[in-house]
Order: sequence, then C-alpha cells, then structure tokens
Amino acid sequence: MQDLNTVHSGPTSPGRAVVLLAKSAFAAAPMREMQRLTERIQRQRGPGEHVVFAFSEQGTPALRDVMLELRDAGFGEIVIVPLLIPLEPSFHLWLGRTLQRWLQEAPGAWPSIHVSPPPEEAPGLDGLIGRLIEHGAARPAVAMPATSLPDASLVPAQKRRVLVCQGGPCNAAGADGIWGHLRNEQERRRLRIVGDGVMTARSTCLGPCNLAPVLQVFPEGTYYGGVTEAGVDRIIDDHLLGGRIVAALAYAPTGRKQSLRS
Ligand code: FES
Repeated sequence: MQDLNTVHSGPTSPGRAVVLLAKSAFAAAPMREMQRLTERIQRQRGPGEHVVFAFSEQGTPALRDVMLELRDAGFGEIVIVPLLIPLEPSFHLWLGRTLQRWLQEAPGAWPSIHVSPPPEEAPGLDGLIGRLIEHGAARPAVAMPATSLPDASLVPAQKRRVLVCQGGPCNAAGADGIWGHLRNEQERRRLRIVGDGVMTARSTCLGPCNLAPVLQVFPEGTYYGGVTEAGVDRIIDDHLLGGRIVAALAYAPTGRKQSLRS
C-alpha cells in the first residue's frame, strides 16, 4: 500500500495540504482504516492537493510531526479537518493554542493554517449517516459468543505510574498532546517492559492547576509543571529510565502557592 503520509518536498509540493485529524489509534485495523479513508479523499481531491492523516492523541503519525513535515516540505497552506463527533467544546481551543505553541517552538516560515468546522456542521452529513444506517442494517446482527468471555487477568508487574492531568486548565494548556506524545513514546520505546516498567493513566485535576499542563510520576509522586513534548522526553530519559528527578520541571510541595518558573 502506498504510504500517503510520506510528505514529498521539492518544487512540485507547494500548494494545499489537507490533514484528516483523528483522535487516537494504536491497533493495525484502525490505522488501515485511516489509510483507506485518506486514499479515497486523495482521489476525490485530485493531484492538486496532498491529503494526509494524523492523530491528536495516541497513534502515529502525531499531529505535531505531520505539521512540521508539511511545513518543511514547503506547502503554502494547511487545512486541518477534525474527524470527531461530537467534538468536545474545548477541542478547538486546545487545537488553536497547541498550534500556536508549536509555531512558537519551531520558528521559521510556516504556511497559513486553517481548521475546518466540526463534522456535524458539514452539508450532506445527514445523508451520509442515513447511508451508514442502511449499510449497518444490512450487516449480520451481533451474535452471542460461542464460548464464555475470559474471567482472569494478570496483575501488572510495572512499578512506575505516570498520571497526566486532564482537568480543564491542563487541557487548555495542551495536556491532550502531552498525553498522546507520552503514549506514543511508551509504545515506541516499549516502556511497559523496559526498566521498572511504566503504566500511564489520565487523571482528573491533580491540584496545582497554575502549573498546567501537569503530570505526576510515581512511586515518588513528583509533580511536573509546564510540560511540553520535549519535557516528556526528558522525564522519560532521566526519571522513568534513569531514576533521576528532572529538577528544571519538578515542583515539590512547599505549603505555599507556586507559579511556573520561566
Ligand atoms: S487541571 Fe491540571 S492540575 Fe488542575
């Protein structure tokens, strides 16, 4: 299968790039679905546009990597199409702030970036859902399993835990992207079975909202604030694998209010 997500640079590449933005996928089947959908949209849009897909949370390619690739390939315009229904009210706020942060972190000549309205506002969506209902009704009904479902589980041996705060202030500060980057690195570097073993989880507000985005590493219970993707990489290298707290990003309880250090 052709890798549509390969971004070609050179004199023929400028023009418009379209990013089909999904939330997350790790398994091969949903990845293939995104690939097939991308191929169909590419055929529909024609050779004048370059269509790729990306994930805002878990899964590769991550949105940040795709945006940087498209920029470096010289595209003049990028249109991001979030494929999420329903779209969380905070999603557009998160996306806007995250894109601004990436623009700031990777200075250079960026193309103009646009974000489409949510899918539920797309003309023709009602007809599409109607056709999906007809296709669904024509499929075989869900059958009772022939054997009973498994009722035993392994107790995990992993000693480390990373909580990524998903409270409102942290989400507005980019926690979704931090979570996605951590999960992608956990898969890529096999952190579950390397070293002490790492489990990750999203949590409700961890407390120090002023330090957003916040994550906490156990068993030490270390709070990290103002975490970026690069900060996650440092925490993985130094703390999770090396056992050394990253002092530049860490905040210890002092009994007094604290602000983000610059
Ligand atoms: S919302 Fe993240 S610490 Fe409160």
